[in-house]
Amino acid sequence: LGGTHNEMHGFTVPFSFPLHFTRGLWEPGNPLFAEVVRRLEPTRRQRVLMVIDGHLADARPQILAEIATYFDNYAEAIEMTGPAVVVAGGETVKNDLSHTLELLAEINGVGLDRQSFVAVVGGGAVLDMASCAAALAHRGIRVVRIPRTVLSQADSGVGVKNGINLFGKKNFIGTFVPPFAVINDRDLLASLSLRDRIAGVVEGIKVALLRDPALFEQIEADAARIAAGDLGVLQPVIRRSAELHLAHICGNGDPFELGSARPLDFGHWAAHKLESITHHRLRHGEAVAIGLALDITYSVRMGLLDRACAARVLTLLERIGFQLWDDALQLHDADGRSLLLAGLEEFREHLGGELHITLLRGIGDSCEVTEMDDSTVVEAVEELAVSHAAAFASVAR
Ligand SMILES: NC(=O)c1ccc[n+]([C@@H]2O[C@H](COP(=O)([O-])OP(=O)(O)OC[C@H]3O[C@@H](n4cnc5c(N)ncnc54)[C@H](O)[C@@H]3O)[C@@H](O)[C@H]2O)c1
Ligand SMILES: [Zn+2]
Repeated sequence: LGGTHNEMHGFTVPFSFPLHFTRGLWEPGNPLFAEVVRRLEPTRRQRVLMVIDGHLADARPQILAEIATYFDNYAEAIEMTGPAVVVAGGETVKNDLSHTLELLAEINGVGLDRQSFVAVVGGGAVLDMASCAAALAHRGIRVVRIPRTVLSQADSGVGVKNGINLFGKKNFIGTFVPPFAVINDRDLLASLSLRDRIAGVVEGIKVALLRDPALFEQIEADAARIAAGDLGVLQPVIRRSAELHLAHICGNGDPFELGSARPLDFGHWAAHKLESITHHRLRHGEAVAIGLALDITYSVRMGLLDRACAARVLTLLERIGFQLWDDALQLHDADGRSLLLAGLEEFREHLGGELHITLLRGIGDSCEVTEMDDSTVVEAVEELAVSHAAAFASVAR
């Protein structure tokens, strides 16, 4: 302090990455993928390690041949380093470090360098794991993310975060890395189950509640067709949601979350805990729906939101097919402490000190608080139990 030998220099580092929307990504006449990979060095033949979600490969086995043929067609521009690597699909791939180590071994085995590519085709879990492995290898190999679920196309796939789970905590290991590019192909969703089509919509509802009342009304108007998994009505919702997520991540000046404010995590503190304590019986999207219902009910009890507006949102979630209750909300540890409330503490830790929770004041109108009142959280849980536990019990049976 007050020393005369200290100097300071500052610098800024710009990042940019494109988000593409397309159809028929692997069709021979679609040059997009090859062009995306060659964006920075248009004359170089680029090496690409392909990583494919195992459930997707099961649901659509021909994808491996389609991709191989595509690479053959664009052989002057791109080269596959070997057969596509098929990894376990779903949260399993984030839950066990061995999957990440195996992928790192593949990256090492084919000798990928930092100007080569890992291109990942899959759900949010596979994208998170493979992007994490690529970020760690050689301190960062370029990643092209090709999300294949509603949730990952609408939210997680388009962002800058990756991660795997450790110590029973979601995304305990992970980094912030802007991908080289993101490609959303609407035709890739055809093989997705109804359950996953629905689960992903919740991120669209979340971002509509935060930012876009018109999107919320559109989802309300199309709720019956969304509940039936109609990709025609899901498509514009996914697209708008992806744009809103990206605008928030990249347009708000804090893509790497150096501050604590994280409105896109609306409903997520409870969701992350529910995912862990149900051992991922709940999909991320299903847990977020419950997390939203809880934080919305809490918002009413704190006098921020009127009851009719809350009922409107909860009704929409139910019409689309979400359960707004899970018995895990009321689990306790051996000392009688609520596991859910422990999740609040873990969320504080993950954010780095101060708690920032987004609450709702109206459709398109949110606010942030830095404290949650434990007893009001418990009351909100009890309120959800009264109105929604019966529906849960009948499904569980
Ligand atoms: N990085 C981020 O910013 C961020 C943000 C939100 C969520 N996430 C993470 O994303 C994950 C959830 O992603 P998700 O909802 O996509 O779930 P998921 O990755 O578990 O995919 C759901 C299921 O669909 C299968 N699948 C994927 N594509 C398919 C296809 N086209 N056809 C048939 N089956 C297919 C998967 O194998 C899986 O079984 C969670 O781990 C969550 O934490 C990350
Ligand atoms: Zn989410």
